[in-house]
Amino acid sequence: MKLLAFNCSPRMTKSNTSLLLDPFLDGAREAGAEVELVYLRKLKVKPCLGCFSCWLKTPGTCVQKDDVALIMPKLGEAEIWVFAMPLYVDGMPGHLKVLFDRLIPGARPVIEVRDGHCRHPLRGNMKKGGKIVLIANCGFWELDNFDPLLVHMKAICKNVNREFAGALLRPHGEAMRPMMKLGIAIDDVFDAAREAGKEVVYKGKISRELQNIVSRELIPRDMYLKFANEGFKALSAEKV
Ligand SMILES: Cc1cc2nc3c(=O)[nH]c(=O)nc-3n(C[C@H](O)[C@H](O)[C@H](O)COP(=O)(O)O)c2cc1C
Repeated sequence: MKLLAFNCSPRMTKSNTSLLLDPFLDGAREAGAEVELVYLRKLKVKPCLGCFSCWLKTPGTCVQKDDVALIMPKLGEAEIWVFAMPLYVDGMPGHLKVLFDRLIPGARPVIEVRDGHCRHPLRGNMKKGGKIVLIANCGFWELDNFDPLLVHMKAICKNVNREFAGALLRPHGEAMRPMMKLGIAIDDVFDAAREAGKEVVYKGKISRELQNIVSRELIPRDMYLKFANEGFKALSAEKV
């Protein structure tokens, strides 16, 4: 089973995203998946021009020449897509949205009703279905910060004819590295991410129990704000 994962943090290997994604991928490998990890920042992905050439002039082929041409076949072959990211302005980082916009050549210029809703039929390999996993972390403390992103990712799943297999959501994700430095145990979060990687390969979805462990409170909100604001004050060139 092929699993294609995108680390969509511009901080790449130093990201909080990688703290969750890496054990998840280890678990998937242990369960027998063939894993490929792509750092989105390393890809050249130009924005969609909205010209509809990929539908009307050169069916299935975009006029933009960049790394999306390498990614499209990989997407078609992978049963599981994993998108791991920091939350940016209540949603996915812009460079990932640009990649999603560029998947339009994988759809055909026809509108049909699928599952009671208007959709485009998909071309070739893109229509075979599969699963999508979301992994996200954010700076604010509350879990509901991910609500808009969840709605968006679930809508994308329907458009690309894939099943949403679950989400590993880590609020106050910026607390992870300082807590690890202080020796405060948060291994249960990473162990749950690893188990989730196995689960998605074995069962095709991530249990609510594991999702809850990954999202658990790491530190009370007032304490988190105190440490965060002291940190900003110490590091900032401006008076905050
Ligand atoms: C441009 C930008 C926008 C952000 N927007 C949000 C936001 O809307 N809500 C939030 O909780 N955190 C937000 N954050 C904080 C990041 O989600 C947080 O720092 C995260 O831990 C970074 O993860 P990474 O190390 O994987 O990149 C934002 C950060 C940046 C740089």
